[in-house]
Amino acid sequence: METGGPTLHSGGFGNEHSGEAIPGALPLGRNSPQRAPLGLYAEQLSGTAFTEPRATNRRSWLYRIRPSAAHPPFTRVANGTLRAAPFGQGPGEPAPDPNRMRWSPLPEPPRGTDFVAGLWTLGGNGDARRRTGMAVHLYRANSPMTDRVFGDADGELLIVPESGALLLRTEFGPLRAEPGSMALIPRGVRFRVELPDGTARGYVCENYDVPFALPELGPIGANGLAAARDFMVPSAAYEDDERPVEVINKFCGNLWAATYDHSPLDVVAWHGTHVPYLYDLRRFNVLGSISFDHPDPSIFTVLTSPAADFVVFAPRWLVGEDTFRPPYFHRNVMSEYMGLIEGAYDAKAEGFVPGGGSLHNMMSAHGPDRETFERASEAELRPQKVDDGLAFMFETPWPVTVTDQALNAEHRQRGYDEVWEGLDRTFPS
Ligand SMILES: [Fe+2]
Repeated sequence: METGGPTLHSGGFGNEHSGEAIPGALPLGRNSPQRAPLGLYAEQLSGTAFTEPRATNRRSWLYRIRPSAAHPPFTRVANGTLRAAPFGQGPGEPAPDPNRMRWSPLPEPPRGTDFVAGLWTLGGNGDARRRTGMAVHLYRANSPMTDRVFGDADGELLIVPESGALLLRTEFGPLRAEPGSMALIPRGVRFRVELPDGTARGYVCENYDVPFALPELGPIGANGLAAARDFMVPSAAYEDDERPVEVINKFCGNLWAATYDHSPLDVVAWHGTHVPYLYDLRRFNVLGSISFDHPDPSIFTVLTSPAADFVVFAPRWLVGEDTFRPPYFHRNVMSEYMGLIEGAYDAKAEGFVPGGGSLHNMMSAHGPDRETFERASEAELRPQKVDDGLAFMFETPWPVTVTDQALNAEHRQRGYDEVWEGLDRTFPS
């Protein structure tokens, strides 16, 4: 049984949000009254240290039918195709690889694959046990999660749907994430995933580090890029289900499971700052050059953290005069994983397709392919709207070590280097 309020969301990244599915369920004036309203249990969920400075402190108070503490022991279950940092240190694991790599979309999974079973790790860096670094995952699913719920103790999950909507039923209420949006599930928040379209595919950045935040704006001013108010939180809704539900806990890289005798999505009211968000990527206020040169792609940063930036290449106008307008050739200390949500990307003529991805590791040389270079070098420079695609990037300060399954995947495109072949010298000899 599901009850609860309307599905309207309130917005505001980093705000103190609140919700109650039943009027009067949320205590006023205190967090932990001697008896919480309606016979509910009060529980604090902390995403940062208690003593974290106020501006970056993240915690929420949950008022639930049963306390999360009432459960039997967790036991190890198979990790499937999920991997965790540290990468590249186990026997037989590939060493960090400087080569440029590109993948086609993941193949169809077996029938009955839900979101958790469909998580497939491409690679990452840092160490989940030290809360540093990040991992890049892809997912594909064709079955809803019904009797199981997932929570990631290792980090927050930035989910980028590419095909098929996700209905994320979280402890805080439901969020519907369509392709073209992103959802953020904070560390430890439990949720299950339903598939309104039957199947779903997309990308996940798992951030082991301190939570994502909006970037500072500096000379841009008080507005621009992603607006805080466009990050929507769910309205409280709860499940009052007395049936066995398996809770999957990702802990230090491994999956553990315990069967609760009820749905743990039983939060009737909540308030706080450690909350899930939904953001429509098309609301991103794209800023760029109105004179010349392509700005560094950091201008497209939606969210940032020490371990990763999330960057979106949203529809925009190009007007630069005497300018090579696509992204320039570069070598970068940062490592870049790029994915495509729809359409095409203006630096690659072909081979980079929705659901696929590319990895340009630390200091790997990359940029426009030959075809794009030739076209853009000759293009007539009238104002041009780039609105035929939606690409994104997970950019991280540390090299991304790919997993064995990613390095040796059938769907990895061998010969990716060839896109830069034929860039012959034009300097006179
Ligand atoms: Fe790049």
